[in-house]
Amino acid sequence: MVKVAVVGASGGIGQPLSLLLKLNPLVSELALYDVRLAQGVAKDLSHISTNAVCKGFDKDQIAEALRGAHVVLIPAGVPRKPGMTRDDLFKINAGIVKGIVTAIGQHCPDARILIISNPVNSTVPIAVETLKAMGKFYPGNVMGVTTLDVVRAETFLADYLIAQKKNSLSKQFDKTKMYKDVTVIGGHSGNTIVPVLKKKPLISTLASSYDEFVQRVQFGGDEVVKAKDGAGSATLSMALAGYRFAEQVLKSIHRENTPPIPTYVYLPGIANGVKAQAKLSSSLEYFSLPANLLDGRVTSVDDTILDSLSPQERKLVERAVKELGSNIDKGKKFVNGNA
Ligand code: NAI
Repeated sequence: MVKVAVVGASGGIGQPLSLLLKLNPLVSELALYDVRLAQGVAKDLSHISTNAVCKGFDKDQIAEALRGAHVVLIPAGVPRKPGMTRDDLFKINAGIVKGIVTAIGQHCPDARILIISNPVNSTVPIAVETLKAMGKFYPGNVMGVTTLDVVRAETFLADYLIAQKKNSLSKQFDKTKMYKDVTVIGGHSGNTIVPVLKKKPLISTLASSYDEFVQRVQFGGDEVVKAKDGAGSATLSMALAGYRFAEQVLKSIHRENTPPIPTYVYLPGIANGVKAQAKLSSSLEYFSLPANLLDGRVTSVDDTILDSLSPQERKLVERAVKELGSNIDKGKKFVNGNA
């Protein structure tokens, strides 16, 4: 019996994400909370003939929505408009995330918390510091969802590799076989996003397309913001990505073995987090690395990925480390003062 709560359930991400969760047989109860429209979204989904019991909760009902939740997904807050960076969202979303996480600390402190709200580089530190201040922080429970970067990297890698086989039609290739060749580490904004190719010769295969590939993974979100022309950022691909991550957490809660999955975590709280920090040559407290889950919580990260980087990837990591420091400090200061 697993209760999943979605906070921000009526939004562009929240609605399709809730739909996907309603279809998952591992979810027994789905609590949808938002400051608007959650009752309507929940009523709609509740007519779908799957096992999960789906209920909506209004603005003043966050306690009921969260009580007993094993997993909480947070896609609440404002999305980007053209010309904005994720950091531009900080002013509004920092307070929203702090408020929601405070409620989690009060009503379901053991829950696994999956943070989608941007800027993830800062909202995850906000969540951790908020819980620490309440004495309710359990390392491994707080996970920043960076899966959309992995999904984009898979798509773009396959597209570039197929484009190189010029005389063949793309339908002749099984793209899914190429997806396993890439993952993404670092943070979740522009230069902090670092695609890592698992087979290094692919860098020479991509040749002049390699830089373009990296750029598209790092700034793929901008393509969507521009195309939506003021109506927001990625919602459908993000719902899929958020669901993909949540599905692994749910499987892990059900004692299934799950492959390591990248997530932005508080390194000092994880078994080999300090070792990972040493490999990053930095005291950076947060970084996304493929994480091992047990009971839906991060127990350790795959720090060996940092040993196998190509010189190009190592440079990208160095740049990410530099930029992430200020994003993290900003989040910490928002909770602890001096902001
Ligand atoms: P949206 O505006 O469509 O939906 C946000 C929802 O949050 C709205 O329904 C709103 O009523 C609700 N909300 C606002 N304050 C709330 C509060 N205090 N408690 C509960 N609900 C509240 O936005 P969209 O497109 O769904 O994006 C949501 C967030 O996800 C944004 O911050 C966006 O930047 C982020 N995002 C993250 C990605 C990632 O890869 N981690 C990718 C794409 C977007």
